[in-house]
Amino acid sequence: MDFEGAGLRHKNNAPGCLQIIMILINMKPQPHAFLIPESGEPKRTCTTMPKNACHPHKSLRRLIGSAVLSVIALPAIYLSLHENAHAQSQALNLYSARHYQSDDELYAEFTKQTGIKVNQIQAGDEALLERIRSEGKASPADVILLADAARLWKAQTEGMFQPARSQVLAKAIPASLQAKDLWFGLTTRARLMVFDKNKVRPGQLTSYEDLAKPEFKGMVCTRSGTHPYMLSLVASIVEHQGEAKAQAWANGVVANLARTPRGGDTDQIRGVMSGECAIALTNSYYFVRLLKSNKAEEKMGAQQLGVVWPNQSSSGTHMNVSGGGIARHAPNPANARRFLEFLASPQAQAFLASANNEWPVVRGVKVHNPELESLGKFNADPLPIGAIGKNQPIAARIIDRAKWR
Ligand SMILES: [Fe+2]
Repeated sequence: MDFEGAGLRHKNNAPGCLQIIMILINMKPQPHAFLIPESGEPKRTCTTMPKNACHPHKSLRRLIGSAVLSVIALPAIYLSLHENAHAQSQALNLYSARHYQSDDELYAEFTKQTGIKVNQIQAGDEALLERIRSEGKASPADVILLADAARLWKAQTEGMFQPARSQVLAKAIPASLQAKDLWFGLTTRARLMVFDKNKVRPGQLTSYEDLAKPEFKGMVCTRSGTHPYMLSLVASIVEHQGEAKAQAWANGVVANLARTPRGGDTDQIRGVMSGECAIALTNSYYFVRLLKSNKAEEKMGAQQLGVVWPNQSSSGTHMNVSGGGIARHAPNPANARRFLEFLASPQAQAFLASANNEWPVVRGVKVHNPELESLGKFNADPLPIGAIGKNQPIAARIIDRAKWR
């Protein structure tokens, strides 16, 4: 669906006084022009005008008649235009990197509750950011939803958000999961490790640090180190242990890779199932998705893997968020605020989390997800999400030096 310029169309179509005056001018019979000649025009005389238009009494009557009509018509015209503009303002332009059909049901519920229509553009995070960059001040985006703290931070540093100034959001979203009122985490996901039980002994693998141990040489599979999920993990290690230790760790993991990184997290899990890898790093929801797969071999393959919640006796398991904020040049900022507040409501939180096998960020919201719950309870890294953003440039340098491509 394309709604490029929708917000701008609203702006351009809003009825201004000038437009109303123009409409009234167009209603006037032309002969009146001689009574109020425009500056610079030669003054018309009766000899140059049509005979019926040159009679001063008839023209005066027509002028009075038109004026009366105009006064009667003015409120109706204004109301009509105003209603039109109001209808168009009941819209929200959403740029979303989330791509789940169930989200559409959620947006339909928002429209039902508020009357605000949601126009949506779905694309990958980077494609959305590129689009917003190229649109500049003319961007019709009202809300930007992205699927990773690294990308949210990137959008923030490029000035793509404006403060939400919402007491509802400030109260509902934990402070550690938002960035100075500019964007808000809406769901959380964990970065966990899965392993082949025939190749890794119980207790042998307990932390991210273990992935760099020589005993796992040729056994580890990850996606490219340049992917935001990996950059965010490295950024968290930088925060906990400093750049030098994070670099040594990255070098060690690269030395242990079973193959050149390729594909996404699901491909790494499949690599363990096929025997090409012994250990894989993955976001929690990809693994749960396989546990729920309709394909019997995928489901059984995932069920047979071992799962580790990393760093339970130290920093806790690395967490990431999907989240969003109000676009800097939003044509409909009030609708955008209302939409984000809706996403922070208990009903929407449960919906968003369930849709992608994640966890809600709002305390007290319960989600029933047996496959996710089957992975057990764990200690999450309480690191504020802002720290992950701040360390992105360092993480990128580490990945580059380690040649984790
Ligand atoms: Fe993902």
